[in-house]
Order: sequence, then C-alpha cells, then structure tokens
Amino acid sequence: MHSTLIHRAAIAAIVGLATLAPAWADDTSVPEQIVNGMNKVWGSHPGFRANHARGIVTEGSFVPAPGAAGLSKAAIFAGGPVPVTVRFSDATGVPTLPDGSPYANPHGMAIKFHLADGSEMDIVDNSLKFFPVATPEDFRDLFAAIAASGPDSPHPNKLEQFIGAHPSVPAASATVATPGSLAQEAYFGVDAFIFVNKDGKRQPVRTQILPVAGVEHLTADAAAKEPPTFLMDEMRARLGKEKVSYRLLAQLAEPGDPTNDATKPWPDTRKTVELGTITLTSVAADSATAEKALLFLPGNLADGIEPSDDPLIDARNQAYAVSFGRRQQ
Ligand code: HEM
Repeated sequence: MHSTLIHRAAIAAIVGLATLAPAWADDTSVPEQIVNGMNKVWGSHPGFRANHARGIVTEGSFVPAPGAAGLSKAAIFAGGPVPVTVRFSDATGVPTLPDGSPYANPHGMAIKFHLADGSEMDIVDNSLKFFPVATPEDFRDLFAAIAASGPDSPHPNKLEQFIGAHPSVPAASATVATPGSLAQEAYFGVDAFIFVNKDGKRQPVRTQILPVAGVEHLTADAAAKEPPTFLMDEMRARLGKEKVSYRLLAQLAEPGDPTNDATKPWPDTRKTVELGTITLTSVAADSATAEKALLFLPGNLADGIEPSDDPLIDARNQAYAVSFGRRQQ
C-alpha cells in the first residue's frame, strides 16, 4: 500500500492532475491520441500548448566551442555567434498551474537557433534525466491509464497497473525537483540524435544543458510556499540585471548503448564534449504573443544532425504539430 502511494505521487510529478474521466478510443494516429489524452487529463485551454503550457520566451546567442565542429558539420557549430530564441516552460497543459507545484516538473528548455542563411534548428530538452516510457504507444496508454484512474477507482487501478508494468515511470519522475531558478536547472535531451562530421563519422549523442550558475533545487515544502509565477518572474528579474548562461554538451554513446530507448540513460561515466555556450540577455518583447507563434520541433535539425532510431522523436514531431494546430485556432 505504502509503495503504491509512493508510485502514485511519483507519477503525479510527471503527468500530474489525474482527473476522473473514462478511457477513450479513437482511430486517429498515436501522436494525435497522445494529444487527446493530454487534453483529457489536463483539460483543453484554448491558445495554449497541450503540454508545457506555461512559459516565458527569452533571447540571446549561442557561441560554439572549438571541439563541436569535430563531432558535427552542422552550421551552428561552424563559427560565430548564432542568435537564439529560448522558451522555458512548466510541465502539464494547465496554464495556471503554480510554478512550484510538483506537477510543474519537468521544466522545459526549448532552443531555436537562427542561422545566417535564414534556416532554423531546434533543441527541445527538459529536466527529466530519462523518459518514463520508451514508445509512443506506451505514452498514449499512460495517459489513458491516468484518465481511467480516479480517486474512487478500485485498487489496483489502471494507473497502478501501468506503473507496476513500467518501473521506468516512477524512476524517471524521481529525477526531477523544482529548481530555485530556471537559470539554475539542468536540462536533458533524453532522445538520442546522430552527429555526423565532415568526414561522415557518425556519433550517437544526447544533449545536456548545464547552467553556469550551478543547479539549485528546492525542497517540495519550500517550492509549495513560492508565489505561483515565481520561476517566470525570477527569470524576468534576473535578465533585467544580468546575463544567464548555460553550457551545451553532447554525451557520447559507446558501442552497445541503446539509442532507441529513452528510458535507459547512458552511464554518467560516458564522455561529454562541450558544444558551446548559450547566453541569454533579455525576455522577448511580448512573451505571450511570441510563445503562441513559436513551434519547437525535436526533429527540426540541420545538415550534420540526424534523428536516431528512437521512436519518440517522430511521435513528438507529429504531436507538437497537432498541438500547434489546435492552439492557433
Ligand atoms: C512521445 C513523447 C512526447 C510527446 C508525445 C510529447 C508531446 C508534447 C506536446 C504535444 C507538446 C506541446 C507542443 C506545442 O504545442 O508546441 C510538448 C511540449 C514540450 N515537450 Fe514534449 N512530448 C514528448 C516527449 C518529450 C521529451 C522526451 C522532452 C524533452 C526531453 C519533451 C520536452 C518538451 C518541451 C520542452 C516542450 C515545450 C516546447 C515549447 O516550449 O514550445 N517532450 N510535448
């Protein structure tokens, strides 16, 4: 019983706000079914993202590190500073969720690089060190299980059954906590991508974004006492007086490390290579308008970076597009 409660608390930290709702069935694509599941569990909030609804848009630049070009021929690593737009976000599709809520974990950091030739490339990371499920079908089924598991449903309910069969769900949620500042959180790519250099050498990597100011997490009690928009407000105030910087790194897979399973982190001992520094200088002039128009896609890549065989990447591309279409209406 006790461990069941822990599991329920753990899953809540990722998917949050389970409501009493019937299971559903439809004949749409799996990514669209996931968005439907998010809308069912978190409600539909016109104009907002189906997940990571609350956010703040910032601006700055990326300066590549000297070793990055050896790993990938992508133009962002070739030379001078690249302007970036970065959106930080709280998890869940509930735009009024307090920043300090455990359900607001994981926090997101989505980066759009604006290249000199007019093209764009995205990196979409979050504060989970690894993902709760390995496949789009499991992610859909997780939301279905939440929707079918109200407080009065007999135990083990659908969510408890799902968690029992997928121990990576509570394990992943145990890797997140509320940061004291979005400038003092680490963000992880979770999905594997393939870096290709000018000689055609292919290296599977996962990105890591580490704050130069260091990571600082709050206790759950301290987080609960913070004002509802403290993280977004703190970033705005901080950027009013100083720059905010992060190191972008690539964790390198070794032969045999899985690239198709985002529930399986590679060992911490794997080599990391500095890709460069992201330095933020301001909040976007009208953040609320800017975030509505922005679409970050994990598959929006440049020549020299390719998706791996991780099945989440394509599902994310499709689901984000569905969510974008709905929030434009
Ligand atoms: C199958 C797996 C996943 C699905 C279906 C999914 C779905 C979604 C959806 C529908 C949105 C809203 C997009 C929009 O309206 O623009 C979203 C946003 C987001 N997701 Fe995911 N997600 C998945 C996995 C991940 C992973 C692995 C990460 C990070 C490692 C992640 C990080 C984010 C972030 C940071 C945002 C906010 C992006 C922004 O600021 O525009 N997601 N996700």
